[in-house]
Amino acid sequence: MMRLDKLLCEMNLGTRSQVKEQIKKGRVTVNGNTAQRPEQKTDPENDRICVDGKPISYIQYVYYMLHKPAGCVSATEDGRHATVLDYIKDEPRRQELFPVGRLDLDTEGLLLMTNDGELAHRLLSPAHHVPKTYYAKVKGQVTGQDVEEFSKGLDIGEKKLTKPAELTILQSGEISEILVIITEGRFHQIKRMFACVGKEVIYLKRIRMGSLQLDENLAPGEYRPLTEEEVLELQKAK
Ligand code: URA
Repeated sequence: MMRLDKLLCEMNLGTRSQVKEQIKKGRVTVNGNTAQRPEQKTDPENDRICVDGKPISYIQYVYYMLHKPAGCVSATEDGRHATVLDYIKDEPRRQELFPVGRLDLDTEGLLLMTNDGELAHRLLSPAHHVPKTYYAKVKGQVTGQDVEEFSKGLDIGEKKLTKPAELTILQSGEISEILVIITEGRFHQIKRMFACVGKEVIYLKRIRMGSLQLDENLAPGEYRPLTEEEVLELQKAK
């Protein structure tokens, strides 16, 4: 059960004081009866709520794509640094959101923010092998030998080798540019995989997670809601 004014707020029908005003003016009905009090408890799943006669359907889950900038942590609270939640401003449901997985402080790119714990769990669970694609700049020449090593899995100092990773060289030189696809999310995984072949990652950006691709129109620090299609595609991840 949820307060009526909270529910209307969460459905983006206005600020708390605006929706309270709508209720006072008798514009809101619950199961056909004019609502009297903003604090009235309602059942978001089953009550039929209308504003000015128009039915409001309750949306339980929200999904945002954030282009995480460098310099913020993938957490909802932190004593020292800005968090990814600081970038999701003015959303009535921002307090419910959490990031799906972590990117390092200095890593940029695609971060899904949601309140859907089940989907998050599925996308992160090692059993589901959801592929994540990163673009990186690496100090030194990345070689065919590195591609081979990545494809076999690397010993990054844990009990098990990493799963095979698909490394594609975009440009090899003093500073190389690469794409790499991994299906796990171990701590500092890409940086440690390159360290393993004697190279240093100097820039890292996630550009894809499963079916979800970073929107090129989002500058670092910007976000947008996922489209319905993007949500449906993500939910198909087995
Ligand atoms: N691998 C890393 O090393 N860092 C990240 O942020 C993500 C993957």
